[in-house]
Amino acid sequence: MLLDIMSEIIRLKKELDICVLAHCYQGQEILEIADFVGDSYKLSADAAKVKNKRILFCGVHFMAETAKLLSPEKQVFLANAYAGCPMAEQLEPKLLAEMKKKAPGRKVVAYVNTTAELKALSDVCVTSASAVKIVSAMKEDDILFIPDCNLGDFVAKACPDKKFTFIRGGCPVHAAVTAEEALEARALHPRARLLVHPECSPAVVEIADYTGSTTGIMNYARESEDKEFIIGTEISIIEHLQYDCPNKRFYPLSKKLICPNMKLTTINDVYNTMRSIAAGDGEACEIQMSQELMRDARKCIDEMLRLGQ
Ligand code: 13P
Ligand code: SF4
Repeated sequence: MLLDIMSEIIRLKKELDICVLAHCYQGQEILEIADFVGDSYKLSADAAKVKNKRILFCGVHFMAETAKLLSPEKQVFLANAYAGCPMAEQLEPKLLAEMKKKAPGRKVVAYVNTTAELKALSDVCVTSASAVKIVSAMKEDDILFIPDCNLGDFVAKACPDKKFTFIRGGCPVHAAVTAEEALEARALHPRARLLVHPECSPAVVEIADYTGSTTGIMNYARESEDKEFIIGTEISIIEHLQYDCPNKRFYPLSKKLICPNMKLTTINDVYNTMRSIAAGDGEACEIQMSQELMRDARKCIDEMLRLGQ
């Protein structure tokens, strides 16, 4: 049954000229049918290069929105319409606009986990993989970093010559992990390396051996000579790493590291979206934005790609 659905998806991809982009928090069966898999930065760069008429995104809403901003002439669909990222919607655009008015010289750096409305008010976009490189490459020193204070703190420590202002915000999944849990995991697995995402709190990052994006964590574990790893990001990464490296052992840093939004998308959602596109019944979740919003929001992504080269 699963194999039937997967081969139907592969057939429909060709017939409908669809490229499937999947974030690496997705399940293994989705990764199997995807054309591109990666972290937010890699997928942004991939979305800008795609030649197909349509993109189907398996991830959360802001990621599909970013793909649409980078490929406005394509139809972009999100496989599950309910998959959002709570962090992306934490900040009211009105509040950001007010803060900008109060400090007009300050540059706004937006984590890619933001809505298009917030991106339209920002100067530069960053992802977890590119943030340090991009902020270091900016000539300006006065920065308002939105919305993730934990990623912001990680970047600020790497760029000590710049001045950072934050607005309280962050990922409810990663921020929930405590330093006590990190110390317990270390005590339980004394030979394991601790690899964490910068969305974790500064106290957890301080204890880690490596801090990086989801792709960064996966590459570190694949390339390392070590054999055991405690993984401080969404739990799906453990499944993918175990699949890639059968001779290594991976442990979750915390049972709390499950993103309910990333878990929403199923292989059936991919199949049903493709069937709706084929039928033209309007049921598929297509990303729609006004031309004006697309133009304004794209500027900070182009700036990220320019500074990230
Ligand atoms: P990456 O930037 O590592 O892809 O992470 C995105 C994300 O949502 C992490 O929670
Ligand atoms: Fe958003 Fe956190 Fe889920 Fe990533 S893990 S999609 S930041 S809620």
